[in-house]
Amino acid sequence: MPDTPSYRPAPVFARFYEWISRRRFFAAQFEPLRRELAQMSRGRVLEVGAGGGQNFPYYDPARVSAVEATEPDGTMLRYLRAHLQDSRVPVHVTEATAEHLPFDAHSFDTVQTTMVLCSVGDLGATLAEIARVLKPDGRLLLLEHVRSPRRGLAALQTAFTPIQRRVAGNCHLNRDMASALRDAGYAIETERRYGGGMFPLRLYAARPPSCRRAGARVVDGPATSPPAPSPRRRGGARAGRCPGARKIYS
Ligand SMILES: C[S@@+](CC[C@H](N)C(=O)[O-])C[C@H]1O[C@@H](n2cnc3c(N)ncnc32)[C@H](O)[C@@H]1O
Repeated sequence: MPDTPSYRPAPVFARFYEWISRRRFFAAQFEPLRRELAQMSRGRVLEVGAGGGQNFPYYDPARVSAVEATEPDGTMLRYLRAHLQDSRVPVHVTEATAEHLPFDAHSFDTVQTTMVLCSVGDLGATLAEIARVLKPDGRLLLLEHVRSPRRGLAALQTAFTPIQRRVAGNCHLNRDMASALRDAGYAIETERRYGGGMFPLRLYAARPPSCRRAGARVVDGPATSPPAPSPRRRGGARAGRCPGARKIYS
């Protein structure tokens, strides 16, 4: 069941977010994190909810061949298109919600989201769609603010979420991203924690459920080759297992 009905345009929030995200004090806090995430991206990348293209400057042409940037909000789309020239890799823009991605199955090496999964109407459907379009040896990279591990703060986040959703484009303060990833069948490889208070940030790298099913061989570096399913394998991942919980980016 979706936890909120569906996507609704948020033009006022889009204008505000574009303005604040370009202010130096705001951008400086996120810059190292955006850089870190983009450095993990490999091959053909799907960026879901790309906003105004805030991540475009960080994609590395040595690692990333092309970026497909999706965005459902008409106002954000205008900013996104205006910032295409910030990217050093080719970017193609598609209007789409995260819950319905108009791409073939297993067509991306990396899917990246930054500050998006707090806002999607149906988190479960979004993670399932991302799993569908990721190659079995691909990776989901997230930079998201999450539910606080401190009970008092989590209660406060829940109390403020209705107001936050109204003023900030359906942003939920209290989503437990690690549980959502596991419930959707992902294997979390890396979790990094930043900040705290009402907006604790997490960076996750996770393998899709198809990785386990295919027994894909997982390697560090460009994930461009198709999976090599094999019933028995020496070294690397064993059939039916994906090397989740292995911290490869530390
Ligand atoms: C806080 S902005 C983040 C923008 C950008 N990713 C960044 O890192 O600055 C949230 C973004 O999520 C997008 N969004 C909200 N609901 C969505 C949905 N259902 N599917 C895809 N994107 C969505 C919004 O349009 C907006 O661009």
